[in-house]
Formats: sequence, C-alpha cells, structure tokens
Amino acid sequence: MDTIKEVKRQEEYIEKVKELHQGKTLKYHILTMGCQLNENDSEKLCGMLEKMGYSKTDEFQEADLNLFNTCCVRENAEDKLFGKLGELKRVKEERGTIIAIGGCMMQEKHITDKIKESYPFVDIIFGTHTLYRFPEDLYKALMEKKKQEDILDIDGEIYEGLPIKRDSDIKASVTIMNGCNNFCTYCIVPYVRGRERSREPKAIIKEVQELAKQGYKEITLLGQNVNSYLRVEKEKGIPFEEYEGVHSFATLLKAINKIEGIERIRFVSPHPKDFTDDVIEAIASCDKVCKLIHLPLQSGNTKVLKEMNRKYTKKQYLNLVDKMKAKIPNLTLSTDIIVGFPGETEEEFEDTLDVVRKVRFEQVYMFIYSRRVGTPGDKMENQISEEIKHKRFDRLKALVESQIEENNQKYVGTIQKVLVEGTSKNNEKTLTGRTDNNKVVIFEGDKSLINQMIELKIVSEHIWYLKGSI
Ligand code: SAH
Ligand code: SF4
Ligand code: F3S
Repeated sequence: MDTIKEVKRQEEYIEKVKELHQGKTLKYHILTMGCQLNENDSEKLCGMLEKMGYSKTDEFQEADLNLFNTCCVRENAEDKLFGKLGELKRVKEERGTIIAIGGCMMQEKHITDKIKESYPFVDIIFGTHTLYRFPEDLYKALMEKKKQEDILDIDGEIYEGLPIKRDSDIKASVTIMNGCNNFCTYCIVPYVRGRERSREPKAIIKEVQELAKQGYKEITLLGQNVNSYLRVEKEKGIPFEEYEGVHSFATLLKAINKIEGIERIRFVSPHPKDFTDDVIEAIASCDKVCKLIHLPLQSGNTKVLKEMNRKYTKKQYLNLVDKMKAKIPNLTLSTDIIVGFPGETEEEFEDTLDVVRKVRFEQVYMFIYSRRVGTPGDKMENQISEEIKHKRFDRLKALVESQIEENNQKYVGTIQKVLVEGTSKNNEKTLTGRTDNNKVVIFEGDKSLINQMIELKIVSEHIWYLKGSI
C-alpha cells in the first residue's frame, strides 16, 4: 500500500471530523497502558485528536471521547480495562461519550469477542496495525452511528508523518522499529505487534533534528529489540537507504550523537543476544549516550533461559556484563526479570538471585510470570502455583531493595549532571530532574532552570529518589 497516500487520506478525515463539530471544541480522555512504545503511539493518537478539534481532559466523566490504548503483556492490564469499561457504562448512558479502544489487547480475538459480547456499548475497536486509520474510524462512528471494528492480522507497514502531540517539552521518544521476531515463549508481543520492521534512517534522523530544533534535550529510541535495528532488512534483502552513514544500530547512535542541541540519548529495549562489539563501542564513544543500559535478563538460569527462547546462557550474560563494564567507563545496568516461569525450580530461581547479586543492577523491573493465551509458555504443563510465584517475587524484591539502598548511598556527596524536568509532583516549591543513570533528584531552585542541564551535589538518598543542592 502507498503509505504516503494513505496518510494524506487520513488527513482528509481529520478535516471531515473537524467540520462535523462545527467549531466546537470537544473533550477527550485517554488512558494509556503498557510500555513506552504504547505511550509514543498515544502521543500520535493525541496529535490526530487535537487536529480534529478535541482537547484533552483528565476527567473521563466529562469527556466526549474516551480512548484506551491497551497492553496485554500481563494479565493485570485486562482487569484494568474491564474495570474501567464498567465505570464508563454509566457515563455512556448519561451523556453518550464515544468509547474507542485500541492497542495490543485488541489484536487478541478472545478479548475483542468478550468486548463485543459483554460491553456492546463500545463504539470503536482498532488494532496496532490500524492506528493510523483512527480519524477514518472515528468519522465513520460519528456519521454512521454504528460500531466500527478495524483490526488487521497482518504485518503492518510503517506510516510516516502522522500528527503528534508530545507529553513533554524536554524529553521525546522516537520509535525506530515496530514488531518483534524473537518469540520468547512467555511473550505475547510478537503476536500482537507483528513482524520486526525498521524505520528508514532518514526518517529517524530528520525527526530527531526537528526535535532538537524544537528545544528537546533528551531522546529515547524505542523498539522491542533496538540493537537489531535494520537487521531483518539486511537478512531479507528489504531495501533501505543509508543516510548520514546510518546502516545499523551502532551507526544510528553515532549519527544522533552528532545532532546539535540533543544532550542525552537513551534506548529501550536492547536484547543481550544482539549486543555486538560495534554497539558496545558506540555506547562507549558517544558522549551523549547515557551510561545506564537496560539489559533484560528475564532469568539467571541457563535451562530456563533456553525454555524461554532467550538465546543466551547464564554464563554468556555474565560475560557480556563483564565485557561491557570493561569497555564502557561508569556503566550501570538495569534489567527485567520474570519469576515463576513454567517449570522453574527452587535451584533455578536461585540462579536468578545469584546473577542479581553479582551484577548489582541500578534498577530491576520485576514481574510475576503471567500466562498469555497463544504463547508456548501457556501450553507448558508444569505451571508454578501462584503462592510459590509470589514468595519468589518477594524474595527477589527484598534482595533488589537492599541493593538499591546500598547503591544509592554511593551517590551521596557526589556531583551529578541533572536535566531539570519541572516542579515536583507533590511540592510546587521544589524542582525535579534526572541524572544520566535515570535517578530522580529533588532540589530547591528557580523555575528558570527547567529544561537545563545543571550540576547538583547529592546531599541525601531515599529509596526512590536522591536529594540535591545547587
Ligand atoms: N522487548 C523488550 C520488552 C518486552 S515486554 C525486551 O525483550 O526486553 C517488557 C517485559 O515484560 C519483558 O522484558 C518481561 O520481563 C515482561 N514480560 C513479558 N511477558 C511476560 C509475561 N507473560 N509474564 C510476566 N512478565 C512478562
Ligand atoms: Fe517479547 Fe522477547 Fe520480543 Fe521482548 S524480545 S518483545 S520479551 S518476544
Ligand atoms: Fe504491552 Fe504492547 Fe507494549 S503488549 S508492553 S503495550 S508492545
């Protein structure tokens, strides 16, 4: 399909919806679940909506349009959506808000079936491959006054040039690739986001240059496996155009590092199996690339890793950590861990604790294994009981928290470069920012410091933040 033509066609629908409202500003409420990729998608949906004459509200009760961008990576997201839909039913009955649900969960048939059966008042459901078509879906829902279902089970294409309304004026996310080809056996993402496809280097570089012009200081590159950027294209002979020397993830980092105005570069998520030497070298040599690297472990046991289809062993992971630490000065690491994968024994779980003790992560995102319909993990017979999963989770959490407390102490007395992001949530008088390795720092200072990179002395530590002084 001609994606440029298609985006133009959607622009016409944007105008049509706007005309329909005859100059009235309507309100929308959006609830975004899941990862940063979903947040970036929501920024695009917000961009489209604001062009259609909608403005954002934080109160779902007063919204003319209630939009959900869903996640299905773990079960709790489903409970959250269905809970919210229950609450919305009354609002729908009282004042007729339009209800639209999009995102990953809508790519699951058992979920859309449930919505159609138990929540018939939902107006629009759309999937991950049809997000760009939201203006058309909304127009049709408004005009035809009947339910729109717009879900494709294909590998979507990349649509450039969609409107975008970003959440922050300081930090921006840039999606560099869609989909995932890894098929970790616990994970639903490859089924709901389709096959891996990278954006053209030129589109990414131009977007970051534009962000720099607008005053953005920090860029986060997003994808499910960012360090395999352009790999599928090379393997399959899918043509792409090299731009500013960009033909891989390492060269992309280098090109972005040169863009004036950008001061920090982050990226999530890389995969340990794709941490090639050129990527390590690029991280070490690019001064703007933050030295907090996310290196998802998932399990510390080789047998469990094999069953998870992660393609590395405990030893390979630890060797990679050693190599990276040797080559990248001041490197810190964060990670994701799943406890209670089917068949995980006590000793195998101990291996995970062992890796955590050895690596001393800066931050650990911990998850209890959640069965996902359609994944190989769900079909495994040796599922772990909820009780054991929770007990293991608590043990891991206790270890991680004790390490973080110890780790935070090492910051006290040091000078840290902090990008000031705004006033603190709970206190208008203090400012908040983040260090290179993503630690929140709270301090007293003038509001004119917002969106500046400043140096702060760390005076005390608390488990979730540090206190600084100018
Ligand atoms: N592509 C990224 C992130 C994927 S989803 C990566 O590979 O790191 C984010 C995290 O959710 C995963 O890293 C994993 O730790 C967790 N996760 C994914 N599926 C899960 C499941 N079924 N149960 C529990 N946690 C899960
Ligand atoms: Fe899921 Fe694995 Fe792909 Fe990450 S790499 S999205 S965990 S399948
Ligand atoms: Fe969730 Fe989809 Fe992200 S399943 S974690 S929102 S890619």
